[in-house]
Order: sequence, then structure tokens, then C-alpha cells
Amino acid sequence: MAIHKELITDIKNQTNIVEVIGEFVPLVRSGRNYLGRCPFHKEKTPSFNVVEDKQFYHCFGCGKSGDVFHFLEEYRQISFNDSVKILAERLGMRVDFGDEGRRPHHPHQELYDIHTEASNFYHAILMTTRLGQLAKDYLYQRGLTDELINYFKIGLAPEQADYLYQKVKGQYSEETIFNSGLFQVSNQGRVFDSFQNRIMFPLTDDQGRVIAFSGRIWSEKDSQQAKYKNTRKTSIFNKSYELYHLDRAKAVAHKTKELYLMEGFMDVIAAYRAGLENSVASMGTALTSEHVNHLRRYSQKLVLVYDGDGAGQEAIAKSLALLEEMSVEIVRLPQQMDPDEFIQKNSPEQLAELLTHSRISKIEFFLHYYLPVNLDNLQAQLAYVEQMAPIITEEKSVSRQDIYIHQLADLLPSLNYKQVELVVNQERLKKRQTSAKQMRRPESSQILETSVIALKSPLLRAEMHLFHRLLHHPSLLAEFKQREDLVFQTPELAQLYLILKEQGSLEPNQLQDLGLSEQESQMYYAVLAEHLPDEIADDEIAQLKQSLRRYHQGEALNRQGQKIRDFSGQGDDQQVLAELAKYIAQKRQMEKEEL
Ligand code: UTP
Ligand code: MN
Repeated sequence: MAIHKELITDIKNQTNIVEVIGEFVPLVRSGRNYLGRCPFHKEKTPSFNVVEDKQFYHCFGCGKSGDVFHFLEEYRQISFNDSVKILAERLGMRVDFGDEGRRPHHPHQELYDIHTEASNFYHAILMTTRLGQLAKDYLYQRGLTDELINYFKIGLAPEQADYLYQKVKGQYSEETIFNSGLFQVSNQGRVFDSFQNRIMFPLTDDQGRVIAFSGRIWSEKDSQQAKYKNTRKTSIFNKSYELYHLDRAKAVAHKTKELYLMEGFMDVIAAYRAGLENSVASMGTALTSEHVNHLRRYSQKLVLVYDGDGAGQEAIAKSLALLEEMSVEIVRLPQQMDPDEFIQKNSPEQLAELLTHSRISKIEFFLHYYLPVNLDNLQAQLAYVEQMAPIITEEKSVSRQDIYIHQLADLLPSLNYKQVELVVNQERLKKRQTSAKQMRRPESSQILETSVIALKSPLLRAEMHLFHRLLHHPSLLAEFKQREDLVFQTPELAQLYLILKEQGSLEPNQLQDLGLSEQESQMYYAVLAEHLPDEIADDEIAQLKQSLRRYHQGEALNRQGQKIRDFSGQGDDQQVLAELAKYIAQKRQMEKEEL
């Protein structure tokens, strides 16, 4: 039975594989992943990895791997449909599989439909009515154009108390109407629209479906009301998880490898005007760990662009605490502005320049953030250095640590470089001691992973490495497609590469539809589970090509050796000599290339 694809995606997006597997297998955090003893084969040393970012598991010991549905199928020996049912129920969704052979109904379909209808309705009010014209004037004056209004599908909720309700009642079940968050009931039992006379920003989920709204006041008479009002929590909208504009930003982030995280809707729109389409905003709440898990699915790197005021700086510090596993840069806005105010006072070009070129690191941020107000006090200076030392030693490069020590010393009137370095050295020592302790533990995943990878043949290792790069770097893939006739020797990789070339990308959630063999999908996950730095090093690809070439030459040499042995077995000395000459020539050629 074909199950509704969107339903599968929804369940997957809202489920954390770490939690599900954690219910059956004890897992310990190890760097970016979770590690445990594999439930599918007997082992003493844990080699079962659960990768939270990409939501899959992979055992380096037995090779079993897959997504959360696959885990339940294998672990509990149940069908795919049953795994869907179990995970849906965990989320409080009722899944009706209906009659055999029929597509099951998406339990939230009506809620999506009513939101799409409301969004079209609000947009039409803005674009075609007289009140809409006034609201549009407000938006124009804030720098928006019709093109932007259409792209963000901005709308207007009319002034009447129940205009939307009158339009949709009768069309949808009562249950849908009251669960949508779009309406409220008064004590007298009268139904009102939740939004009245507000400029409406539709909020979408990852798949671009409208799931809620945020409405902004715009006319003088409402100036006493809350500036923005969001849809309450519903079964399709959780504002601690959703991010404005993520559905579109994620596609761009796939190429640029970074996402901008901003505070407001208008800031995301300002960034878009500046040509940066990979920005999102949390919806009027502080960043939560749910947001972070959500973001990590699409990008390993975030650029924080919070308001330049005190509250904004506080918010950055709080967010950084949640973002330890990610790579982060920060843009500081001048003079208490937000990106929207900045673009108004300057230009789109200048905003683009600011966002792309004046970023600081996390450490530089804290250097400013913790800087004591009163620098005359020696005690305060020392406390400041002690606060900064552990932050500085988080930086991996010692020469960069050194730059920060200099910066720190330059800020302090009573302390010099040597004195600051002394404090940092103590911290370095402490770090070394704890990490030495961790290294001695046998379950240290690092040792484990390197040893397992080392067991693979050099050819397989090189091919998996190259495939990993092709999978994650679209520009490299494009280059290979055009210029290289690469054929993988490992059959699973050869097959996966064909698909990758054809589709341009290959994501875990596409696997199901591809009809891959068990070995092929295990190989795919094994590649995903490899840890490589995000950036490709300068000569990395050249070296990989070199080792693949060496392998092919080695194979050719072996074949040539076999030929010689065959002729010599036949007693054909003439041929043996001729083939031997070729053998030597090939060997020379190889040695020449080695140099
Ligand atoms: P700000 O107060 O910084 O608003 O709130 P803003 O983004 O600059 O909005 P404009 O430019 O005046 O239109 C930042 C975000 O906090 C949420 C909204 O998501 C807003 O974009 N917020 C703000 C609310 O949810 N409710 C409010 O009353 C105010
Ligand atoms: Mn603003």
C-alpha cells in the first residue's frame, strides 16, 4: 500500500531518532553523534552510531543502517506500515490507513487546507481592497514592493470580527475550525477571527505548507495592542520548533553551507532584499533546543544576526550556549539597529556587505560581551581574564588562541600579554588533563572510528571519501559530471553515483523510493557516517584522484604479471620477454608519477 509521502516526511521531521532508539538501546553522546552497543550483532565495544543531524543510524561493526522507520522494522521485526503507525501515535497523530490499496488520509489535511485558504484570502484582501491599498502603502513605505509582497505572500486580515469565519464555516468540520487556531470563541459562544486588521505573514513548515500566521498592527488606532500576534500552539504549529522562511532558505543553505538566523520577519525580508535568501527567524521566542535540532538538519553553520541593542546581545549569548555543536559566526549591527532598520538607513548593497563581510567569531563576541564596564579595577580585569580563558581554549588553533590573548591583553590597562597567557596556560593544562583521561577510556569513539575506517582497503577508503565529497559539495559534483568519467570500483558506490549524477543530490529521505538493495543503502549510510571537515582542503581531491589512479595502475600491473606467468607456463620465452618489457615500462611510469 502506498503511504502518503508527506505523512512520512512529517513524522520523520517531528521525530528525533535519538529518542526513539534511546528507548531500546542505551546511548551515550560522543561529539556530534550518539554511540551504543549494536542491537543487531553481539559486541563488547560500542560501534553503533546514531547521527542526530541526519537522523540515521549506522553500525560500523555489522553495517546495519537506516532511518527511524527502518530501525523499528528491524528491531521489532514489524512491517514498514506498522513502524509508521507506531511513530505517528507517539506524536499523537491518528493514522487511518483506510481500505487496503487506498492512500491513507493525512490526519492533518483539513488543517493544511484551511490555512492555505486563509492565506489566499488574506493576500487577496491586501491586494484588491481599499483597506488593502492603505495597508500596502504602509508596506511600501517600509521598503516593500509588490514583488516582495507576493514572494512572502503577505496579506491583510480585515477589520470585521468574523469575516474569515463566515467564509469557511460549513466548508470545514467544526473540529478543524476550532483546532486551527484561526478562531476564538467568546464567553457568549460567538466565534471571532483570531486576527483582525493586521498585516499577515504566513508561516510555513519545511515543506512549504502554511501552518500558522503572525499578524502585525499597522494603523494608528491599534498602536496600543501587541505589535505582533502569532497563532497559538496547534497540532501543526509549534513555535519552538518552526522557523520563518526555512522552507525556502534550506535549499539555498544546501549550496552556501550556512544559514542566517535573525530575530524578526522584517529582518528576513531585508536580507532577501539584499540578495541573501538563506535566512530564517525564530517567531518571537528565544532560540530553543528544538530550533537548534531543526536547523542542524539543514546546515552545520549559522550566522547570528540579532538586534544591535542590549537585549539582542543577551539573546546572542543565550543562543551560543545552545549552539556548542555548531559552527557559528556573529554579525554585530551598528547603533542598536536591526537588519531592517539598517537597510532603511543604508542600502541593500550595504546590508549585504555587512552580513557577508563583517562577521566576528564566538570568542570575539564574548571578548566584547564580558568586557567589564569599569576597567580601572584590577580585580574586575582578572575576573574577566578568567572568564575568557576557557572560551579561548575552545579554539583549536594555538596561533589563533594567541591572537585572542593579544586582543585581550590590549583591552586591559593593568595586565600584559605574559600575564594573560599565564591564566590561559592554566586552562590549557586543565583541558589536556581531562582529555587525556577521556582518551584512556576504551569507548572513546574517536579511537574506535579511526580503527574501523583503517580496516577498510585503501581503494574503498578513497572511494568512500570521494563519494562523501561529491554528495555534500554540489559544485564538485557538477565538475566531475562535466570533466571526469569516474567509475567507482565498489559496485554499491557505482550504483549510488549513477543516481547522484542523475538527481544532483541524494538525501536520506529519498532512499525509500529508489529501490536500492540492502547493501547499497548500507553503503550510503556508511558514507554519511564518515566524519570529514566541512571544507575540502586544497589538494584533497587531487590526492584522492591520485590514489585511485595508483590503484588502477596496480591492477593493470597485476594483470600484466599474470600474463607473464601464463606465457612462461606455456614455455613461450619470446612472449615472456616481450610482456616483461611492457611490465617494466608500466612500473617505471608508476614510479615516475610517484615522485
Ligand atoms: P521586534 O520588536 O524586534 O520587532 O521583535 P521587529 O522585528 O523589529 O518588527 P518591526 O520591524 O517593528 O515590524 C522581533 C520579533 O519578535 C516577535 C516577532 O516575531 C518579531 O519579528 N514579536 C515581537 C512578537 O511575537 N510579538 C510582539 O509583540 C513583538
Ligand atoms: Mn524592525
